[in-house]
Parts: sequence; C-alpha cells; structure tokens
Amino acid sequence: MPVYHIRQSPVLQGEAQINVAKNAVLPILAASLLCSSPVTVRKVPKLKDIDSMAEVLKACGAQIQKEEDSLTIRAPALNNPIESAPFHKLRASVLVLGPLCARLHEADVPLPGGCAIGQRPVDIHLKGLKAMGVESHLENSRVISRGTPKSGYIYLDFPSVGATENLLMTAALTKGVTRIENAAKEPEIVDLADFLTLAGARIWGAGTGTIVIDGVEKLTGVEFTPIPDRIEAGTLACAAAVTDGSILLTGARSDHLRSLLHKLRETGMLILEDARGLHLRGRAKRAVDIHTLSYPGFPTDLQAPMMTVATQTKGQSIFMETIFENRYMHAVSLCRMGANIRTEGRMALIQGGAPLTGATVEATDLRAGAALMIAGLIAQGETYLVDKPGHISRGYDLLDQKLNAMGARISCETGRAPEARLTK
Ligand code: UD1
Repeated sequence: MPVYHIRQSPVLQGEAQINVAKNAVLPILAASLLCSSPVTVRKVPKLKDIDSMAEVLKACGAQIQKEEDSLTIRAPALNNPIESAPFHKLRASVLVLGPLCARLHEADVPLPGGCAIGQRPVDIHLKGLKAMGVESHLENSRVISRGTPKSGYIYLDFPSVGATENLLMTAALTKGVTRIENAAKEPEIVDLADFLTLAGARIWGAGTGTIVIDGVEKLTGVEFTPIPDRIEAGTLACAAAVTDGSILLTGARSDHLRSLLHKLRETGMLILEDARGLHLRGRAKRAVDIHTLSYPGFPTDLQAPMMTVATQTKGQSIFMETIFENRYMHAVSLCRMGANIRTEGRMALIQGGAPLTGATVEATDLRAGAALMIAGLIAQGETYLVDKPGHISRGYDLLDQKLNAMGARISCETGRAPEARLTK
C-alpha cells in the first residue's frame, strides 16, 4: 500500500516532460485488436492501467511484446475472454467490446471496473451497437453481444467518450457508411481516429459532434505515438498555481487545455505558450467558477486538482460536476486539511483562503489522489496520503518524482500512516 509522505514544499520551479496520454493509449490498444498485422505503440508510460489493459488484450487472444517504452500487439486470432480479473481493474476494458463484435460478430466480456466516481453504466455503448444490428444483454456481470454489425445511423444520448470509441472501432471494420451523431469530441477521440486512419480506416469528422465512417475490410498494423496527456499537464499546472510556481510543461498542448488555461488565467496566473510547451507563472489569487462539461468544456478529470486550487484563492468558488455523480470525495479530505468546502449534490461551494494543515488523507480515486498530493505541497506540516489500491500510479507515471524534480518534498513509503493522525 503506497503512502506518500508530503512535506510543505517551496515554490515549484523547473521543467516537467509530459507523458503520452493514458486515455489515448488505452483505446488505441483496444483498436490494435482490429488490425491484421502487428501494431507498435511508442512512448507508452509506465502505468498500472496500461498493464491491466495489456492483460485484457491477452485474455482476448492477443500477444503483447514490451520493449523499452514500446508495446507491440499481435492479434491474428481473437477469442472471447474467460478470465474476469483484468477486466475489473479498469473502465477501459469495455473498449474490447467493439473490436470483438467487429471481428468475431459476438462478444462475451466481463463488465468493466474503474474509479468509483459514479454508476458508469454501459447502456450508451449497447444502444449504439443495437443501432448497428448487434443485440446485447447483461448476464452474470458480463456483457453478451451477438450479431454481425451493419452500417447505420447512431445517435448517442450523451457524448460518451468510451461509447464513441467503441462504435468508431466497430464501424471502422463494418461494410458501408456509419454516422455517429452527438459523438464525443475529446482529443483522444481524434487520436484514435488518426490511428485507425493510418491503419487504413476511412473516417471524417472526428473531433466534431458528427463522425462518419466508411467501413473497410481490413486494417493493417502501424507504428503510432499517441498525444501528450492533457490531464497530467493540467494536474501539474494546478500544482504550480497553488505554490506560486514558475514551471515549464514540455510537450503540453495548449490547444487541448483551453478551458483549464482560461480558468487559471482568470485566477491571475500568467501562462505563455511556445514551441517547447506551456510556461506557468504566479499564484492563483482570484476565485473561479467551474462547470465540468464534455470537451471542449472543463474536464471532469481536472475538477479535483482545480478544487485544491480554489481552496487557496480569495472569495467563493462554485463548482458544478455534471459528468459524474459521485466525484467530490476529495472534498472530505480537503476539509480534514482545513479547507472550507460544502457539497450539495452536484454542486460544491469553496470558500477560499483557509490555510491547509497536514493530515492523513486517503486517495479515494485517481484524480482525488492527485488533488490531495497537490494540497500536501502547501499544507503546513506533514501530510500522509494513503493510497490503498494504488490509484495514483494507475494514471500518473511517478507524479511524486516529477513534482520533486521541481522542488517538492514527497517520499513514497510503503506501510501505515501514523495511527494518531487518522483521528485528527
Ligand atoms: C472517459 C475517460 C475518463 C473521463 C471520462 C469523461 C478514459 C479511459 N476515461 O471515461 O478519464 O473522466 O471519459 O471525460 O478515456 N455513461 C452512461 N452510459 C454509458 C456510458 C457513459 O450513462 O453507456 C455516463 C457515465 O456514467 C458518466 C458519463 O456518461 O456519467 C461520461 O462517461 P464517458 O464519457 O463514457 O466516460 P468514460 O469513457 O468512462
């Protein structure tokens, strides 16, 4: 069980290289199941979710070869998985549903796991498949889908990222023209479409609400380097915002981070962009209101780190979490550290300016863990961040060490946090 011991840290200064995006790598790994020859994904970060996804692909019959930071996937023949354990480790395991339907015309896969930030059903994925002639039902915690996919018209009730990815993958190998309306517009969708296009798919409109796919018979393996991780970059930007930092996020793409940068500028931070990446300077001073939305709106994955920022600005910030219904668990821990936050359903009121003090707190999910690590940097005294299931390393490759390289004082211990602090 990792326990991060965080001491109040001076101003963050220096440079951090942004990794390739976890949320881009995962669907691309799933999409490699569509390809008749080997796929190599480059610059893959060392993340538990990616290891779990590799296990998911193996359970579906793929062979995976790891070499330095590359993963090569061979999937000459696929099968429905028997083993459930790897599927329960992450939400993105559901992304093999589309490729299995496309190639086997049937799928029988365990329901996915992932962060407990809401109900996270798969109904939109299944309704989309139904519009393509694939009937599905749930049985013994598994999704069972049957039918040869046909091209058609799909309207998504909500622009679900995962459902858009699943349907895009299915349609890429389905004869005829499929149109997905109210599709998700996230940069990771564009990256998946770019990967598929390089592999031979015919796709238009990725990144807009309407994606049109003219299915092909075969996709061939390619080498691909996914986009940089906008959520890792955003998390580090929030760390700079609370520490009065001066940092450079090398490789970060400002065009993927417009909503966050707009909000950080509103707080008073100075943000400059150049060919190397993003320069962030100064402290967040003014309160900001945050409304999480589908892309290009403010990302729900940065709501928790941004809440830590809001605890330090002057005045009241109002947050509305519209994507997930249970994504304020970090607020309880921030209050243990002295923050003044009241949550009411989807809304949170943050009265900024209260100094934080060290406490023992728990990483209840991936992004909550990151938010608390940032809070520890400014808390007086020492913070013990207990990460029982290892949430943080599921999605961040050595976040603590990246922060340390810029002046933070975090050590990762394995063991128990001092008992006395748990009752503080
Ligand atoms: C992806 C990201 C995750 C991010 C989220 C929203 C990956 C691996 N994960 O998750 O980090 O927080 O997008 O930007 O890329 N929903 C349904 N039925 C469905 C599907 C979704 O009701 O069939 C709901 C979910 O419960 C949630 C909302 O739609 O409330 C958004 O989910 P979705 O966009 O699908 O997120 P994920 O793809 O799971």
